[in-house]
Amino acid sequence: MKKIALLSAAVTMISFALIFIAYDDGGDPLENAFENKIVLGFAQLGAESEWRTASSQNVMDAAVKYGIELMFENAQQKQENQIKAIRSFIAHRVDVIAFSPVVETGWDNVLIEAKSENIPVILVDRKIQSEHQGLYASFLGSDFEEEGRRAGAWLVKKFAGVSGGVSIVELRGTDGASPAHGRALGFRQAVSSDARFRIVRSMSGDFMRSKGRETMAQILEEYYSPEEGRVIDVVFAHNDDMAIGAMEAMEKIGVAPGRDVVMISIDAQRSALEALRQGRMNCVVECTPYIGERLMELVRDLAAGREVPEAVYSEETVFTEDGDPGDLPDRPY
Ligand code: AHR
Repeated sequence: MKKIALLSAAVTMISFALIFIAYDDGGDPLENAFENKIVLGFAQLGAESEWRTASSQNVMDAAVKYGIELMFENAQQKQENQIKAIRSFIAHRVDVIAFSPVVETGWDNVLIEAKSENIPVILVDRKIQSEHQGLYASFLGSDFEEEGRRAGAWLVKKFAGVSGGVSIVELRGTDGASPAHGRALGFRQAVSSDARFRIVRSMSGDFMRSKGRETMAQILEEYYSPEEGRVIDVVFAHNDDMAIGAMEAMEKIGVAPGRDVVMISIDAQRSALEALRQGRMNCVVECTPYIGERLMELVRDLAAGREVPEAVYSEETVFTEDGDPGDLPDRPY
């Protein structure tokens, strides 16, 4: 009995010592000391589209599922806010930093700072351009060039055997952002060998529905005049939100998207698939926001000091008017 009493006194003393050490450490010590959770700092670029909102929610849900503590910042589409968020993650000494870069360039300094503090970085969804090597551990997301090529390849097939020129309006995503860059490039690669395809207007709608609507209304006003032979055969929108906005602008002046104008878009969110079912959209290339769980696996590996792949690409598909509308998936976003 005496031995048991001594043992329990010793255990109690050790516990007090641990609590003391934990309190002495600052921050939220008890949780870290006893749960030893991995801390991930995530700098989301904004909330410009339904896709982005789904992406943020997916990251938050995945963090809960994997028991990873998430520090989440929304940068409101501003690079300086993302840089500030990354610097605050470094100051908090998080285990891993992840971010979706709003544009491709201008990250070198802050990523060099993270590297010098030995905090690994994961690029989520979007890529960066830099002369420096090794600024990030892994990229996780979609192949944007391939998405553009898929959109262009479908268009070439759609117009196979049709004579005459094909006038295309392109609604670009945010200038300087990797999806806008990659999708524009891939699309041109797919259509450029056929002289019938001409991009008559290319304007940025910043990946936003409101700007897609405004931009399309402006293009219609300036360019579209069937009486003078200026028609638009195709709209290629870099994302669904801009495509939906453009469709609203067309419908307002009696132009039927999907019938008078071929509509191609990227993302495959619920509203775009619904438009495909209704015949208002013709082709939607998938870009999935559901990469949160894969992200948490990478975070866990990096926190444990394990090697991770340099790039992890999502598997995606294309939904078109040629398929059975009943086969289209239901999307929660
Ligand atoms: O980076 C992915 C793109 O960004 C999505 O296509 C778009 O909807 C989002 O805003």
